[in-house]
Amino acid sequence: MKTQMLRGDSREDLAYAAGLIRRGDLVGIPTETVYGLGGNGLDAKAADRIYEAKGRPKDNPFILHIADPKDMESICHSIPETAWLLAERYWPGPLTMILPVKDHIPKRTVAGLSTVGVRCPAHEATRTLIRLSGVPIAAPSANLSGKPSTTTAEHVLHDLDGRIAAIIDGGPCAVGVESTIIDLTTEVPQLLRPGGITPEELLELLGELEVDPAVLGNLPPDAIARAPGMKYIHYSPTAPVTIIDGNDEIAATYIRNRFQEGDAVLCFQEELPLYEGCNPTAYGSREDNRSLSAGLFSALRDLDRPEIKRIFARCPQGGGVAYAVGNRLKKAAGFCIINAEEEDL
Ligand code: TXA
Ligand code: MG
Repeated sequence: MKTQMLRGDSREDLAYAAGLIRRGDLVGIPTETVYGLGGNGLDAKAADRIYEAKGRPKDNPFILHIADPKDMESICHSIPETAWLLAERYWPGPLTMILPVKDHIPKRTVAGLSTVGVRCPAHEATRTLIRLSGVPIAAPSANLSGKPSTTTAEHVLHDLDGRIAAIIDGGPCAVGVESTIIDLTTEVPQLLRPGGITPEELLELLGELEVDPAVLGNLPPDAIARAPGMKYIHYSPTAPVTIIDGNDEIAATYIRNRFQEGDAVLCFQEELPLYEGCNPTAYGSREDNRSLSAGLFSALRDLDRPEIKRIFARCPQGGGVAYAVGNRLKKAAGFCIINAEEEDL
């Protein structure tokens, strides 16, 4: 299959892509978080094709993307008032809500669960595409399973060339990490995945919020993850990643003392001078968490090269968007974290 590159700012291209979706073909779609691997959300065969193209385990369901918040009703039932409040405040935007799923959504799309993740993305091209298709679009992130999510059309082509019919180029993704996922089917709302909408913002609106254990650390192999995808190794380049915590100088001393050929350092822009000669890559400014979220996956992809054998990474601390960035980096590191301030330098 030849994968066509389409333009997100061309109505004609979007109409063409909508035809592909209706036919059951797969299209890479831009969103404000990461690119999606989209297919007809009402077509079980399209769901099968997504699993296959991505190499994704079949127990891991897809998020359904809608063009307008009110379309939540066509997919979900028993929608609580809080869902409408969240939709009003944060949609279109980087928030996915888990809600009870209606029966006409194919079982394969939701991996047999009784719930579904629903999201109204902010990217205009994709909302236009959904409207023109006339169906919700099922889309996991448009990367090969286990690899970092894609934040440019070129990244999507790199992973999925020949596996999908087309990619809509909508430019680089502004947020850069996947949507915040909140489960509204539990008594107390559960944060299943941190993202662009922060825990602080959710807590303010909801009054209560619990954080799923899979967000905080590696789950034991027999644990049941509430978001099935959170139990898999994620976002990883081939080389092992180790996070080095501690203040700039101490962390840099720790890393420099161990640096050898084949190593690389993933750090904040401000730290570049500390890592001269240590193959550093900056993923954003530590003064601007949004720059870190926008740059992380692209940097992890850059570091996925055969000559790189080990990666030392610097991770932001704290809440807000830094919490989501830290979560993705810790997952990429398999939660392997060393505090340089507690080690022999
Ligand atoms: O920003 C995003 O959410 C991107 C863009 C394309 O919208 N999509 C995305 O999809 O990140 P994916 O499939 O890579 O991650 C979705 C996560 C997975 O961990 C999956 O297990 C979880 O959401 N999920 C989906 N449906 C669920 C459900 N009914 N209950 C619990 N978790 C669910
Ligand atoms: Mg994903």
